[in-house]
Amino acid sequence: MTGFWIRIGFYLTGIAALGWCFGAIGEPRDGWIVAVLLLGTWVVYQLYYLQKTMGWLEDFRLDNVPHGSGAWDLLYSKIYRLAKSGEHQRQQLAETLKDIRSATEAMPDGVVTLDEDNQIIYANEQAEEQLGISNEKDMGRNLINIVRHPDFVSYLNGSDWEKPIVLRGVRDPGRVLQVQLIPYGTRQRLLMTRDITQLDRLETTRRDFVANVSHELKTPLTVLSGFLETLRELPVTEEQRDQYLGLMHSQAHRMQNIVEDLLVLSKLESTTAPAQDDKVSMTVMMERLVNDARSMSRDQHRITVSIMVESIVRGAEDELASAFSNLVSNAVRYTPANGTITLEWSVNPDGGGVFSVTDTGPGIESQHLPRLTERFYRVDRSRSRETGGTGLGLAIVKHVATRHQAQLVVDSEVGRGSCFSLVFPAKRIQSTQPA
Ligand SMILES: Nc1ncnc2c1ncn2[C@@H]1O[C@H](COP(=O)(O)OP(=O)(O)OP(=O)(O)O)[C@@H](O)[C@H]1O
Ligand SMILES: [Mg+2]
Repeated sequence: MTGFWIRIGFYLTGIAALGWCFGAIGEPRDGWIVAVLLLGTWVVYQLYYLQKTMGWLEDFRLDNVPHGSGAWDLLYSKIYRLAKSGEHQRQQLAETLKDIRSATEAMPDGVVTLDEDNQIIYANEQAEEQLGISNEKDMGRNLINIVRHPDFVSYLNGSDWEKPIVLRGVRDPGRVLQVQLIPYGTRQRLLMTRDITQLDRLETTRRDFVANVSHELKTPLTVLSGFLETLRELPVTEEQRDQYLGLMHSQAHRMQNIVEDLLVLSKLESTTAPAQDDKVSMTVMMERLVNDARSMSRDQHRITVSIMVESIVRGAEDELASAFSNLVSNAVRYTPANGTITLEWSVNPDGGGVFSVTDTGPGIESQHLPRLTERFYRVDRSRSRETGGTGLGLAIVKHVATRHQAQLVVDSEVGRGSCFSLVFPAKRIQSTQPA
């Protein structure tokens, strides 16, 4: 500022000095004329720069700073520096905003910022996908007009946002979202959304599982306690006593089977370690399986075995034996007398191994196929119970398959029979020679 006044003072003093000189040399009037002329020129000069400055400010760019002299030079460099630091701050702000946006985009949860009237200010990608909003089209629109779920509307319009709410079927019927509104700033609101479909499914499975186990154990327990009461309170003949004890024994055995299968399942589910790497000879395994099948069938079925290639499967022998025998025992139990059961081991052209059990039993309707490996799922409950089934067998098979990177394939047709196959990847098979 001082520099500015010094320059102005310097010009005015110069004009006054020149005027005085001319006045001293000639007439005083000449001095005044010279001073007025110089002052006029100086004013015109200032007006010219003022106009130049206006032109620059109208089309303001940092790369076309006008050249000026005197106070104008000072002014231009001041404006330039101010604009430069403003530009720098703007760039920094833009960078920070970009960083914040990238951080919100990277979040697994959906984030929507709203104003006090629920109008959308910004939504990250997850929120766009979960709530069906578009950053391009829906900015400034009221969120309630887009997400019309009644629970959501009353939550947003209410004032109790302490806890999140759970919304089912917002965009598609199977989806479950957890939504929470968090007020911030003076009047803005942050809406957080989280997809909890998977979690909800797990919770439902857990609940169903507890209910199923209780139900499965309740029936034999009721029968057992009924017989115990009868034995304790009523006089029974020796023959009746033996009959009751026999029935009690079969119910106790049933409960034992359920508990044993549950323990196997829980062991399989809780071990994350890869399956052991035993060398399992399929020739020996198939022999054992066919013997078990024959003794279980008691000559009621025609049981054949075919081993296309002698192979070694690398895996946990006890787990594999349990999975194979489950498939074999199913075939024997569900195939009526005189049916045919075929056990087969073959190797695919790509080197993968296939263990299959084919029967000429009742077959399974297609709507049951996707659910067969669910715990306690039985197509024909009474038939399964009659034969001592717990409905856990195929769940165990599925787990064993997964632990060996194998696939359980079920091909079945009602009235014709079923074929259950376990397809192992080539890396688990060592084939020696055709059997
Ligand atoms: N070969 C088959 N033919 C017809 N139905 C079958 C066959 N294998 C399985 N199923 C059906 O699939 C259901 C599930 O089989 P899974 O092996 O899981 O249970 P389970 O045999 O009833 O009991 P578990 O094997 O635990 O003793 C059976 O109840 C039965 O209805
Ligand atoms: Mg079974």
